[in-house]
Amino acid sequence: MSKYWSSMAKRAKPYIPGEQVNKTNIIKLNTNENPYGPSPKVAEAIKAEIGNNLRLYPSPTMDTLRESIGQYYDVQKENVFIGNGSDEVLAFSFMAFFEPGKKILFPNISYSFYPVYANIYHIDYEEVPLLGDFTIDVEKFFDSEGGVIFPNPNAPTSIYLPLEQIEKIAQHNPNSVVIVDEAYVDFAEASAISLTKKYNNILVIQTMSKSRSLAGLRVGFAIGHETLIEALIRMKDSFNSYPVDRLAMAGAIAAIEDEAYFEETTKQIIATREKTTEELQSLGFHVLPSSANFVFVTHPNVDAKMLYETLREEDILIRYFGTTFIQQYVRITIGTDEEMATLLGAIKRIIRP
Ligand SMILES: Cc1ncc(COP(=O)(O)O)c(C=O)c1O
Repeated sequence: MSKYWSSMAKRAKPYIPGEQVNKTNIIKLNTNENPYGPSPKVAEAIKAEIGNNLRLYPSPTMDTLRESIGQYYDVQKENVFIGNGSDEVLAFSFMAFFEPGKKILFPNISYSFYPVYANIYHIDYEEVPLLGDFTIDVEKFFDSEGGVIFPNPNAPTSIYLPLEQIEKIAQHNPNSVVIVDEAYVDFAEASAISLTKKYNNILVIQTMSKSRSLAGLRVGFAIGHETLIEALIRMKDSFNSYPVDRLAMAGAIAAIEDEAYFEETTKQIIATREKTTEELQSLGFHVLPSSANFVFVTHPNVDAKMLYETLREEDILIRYFGTTFIQQYVRITIGTDEEMATLLGAIKRIIRP
């Protein structure tokens, strides 16, 4: 801290992302990345873009990418906003739709970036307790003063909230925006994008980092009524006209267009998740019902922190939060079948020495 800092810089309590390591032979199951690479068509598209156009600024309106996302989800490009990762889309959304003095609501166990944004923009918030089974207590989200935000499936619990429940939350917040952060929805039943056609106060935010395996490219997007998208564009254009570069745009379009690859890898991750869940259960773990590319687990006789630390010594990284309510839980990203077999072998050795 220094006297030269603004009050905003002083107030900031930055988000701490999961650890990124430089080792090569590590099994990395701590930040919900995709174990399969992106579609091979992504690299081809990026290479072609490097050759041709890198001296030129990218399109500030990002129309081509907005059109391909629009086509994929059956919405117009006016309903699509693109940002540098969904974290940036979330940051712009807090600015565009939430107001100081009007309390917003999000679950008490949720994505830990939300309080960071709220704090920096001076937005009051209430962390609404989840129910005993870690599901969202829907009625507690009715009649918010300033808006609602939650991930679906929730992170880190992995639990999915059915669309009828989201619809109820939107209906009971007619004067504010309900943001559904769908970072993991491709591993779940259905997206709330269909609801954005019926409710002009629902904004859905998605990312290419998980199901499309492009965490390193940084592309996220929002889908909603065009007046919501217009507000996001106003925010973006007040900070940086070009938050997504030419390579990211070319790669993201290729990823969206390769539907077969996306479907195959997503299906595989879901199959591995189901198998891993059964195996962890047979070892005595309680596994929350997951609709994501990770599982959130606890064991009655095994200390979560010890498990995390011991796996780390064996070069297997999982995520331990150690925060209130979830001190005895760890989050494990679904890797390849082979990675999960190595993980399960290590867990067996640790819990039954
Ligand atoms: C719930 C949730 N939302 C948003 C993000 C941000 O994803 P990205 O910025 O990579 O698009 C994450 C990343 O882990 C997440 O877990």
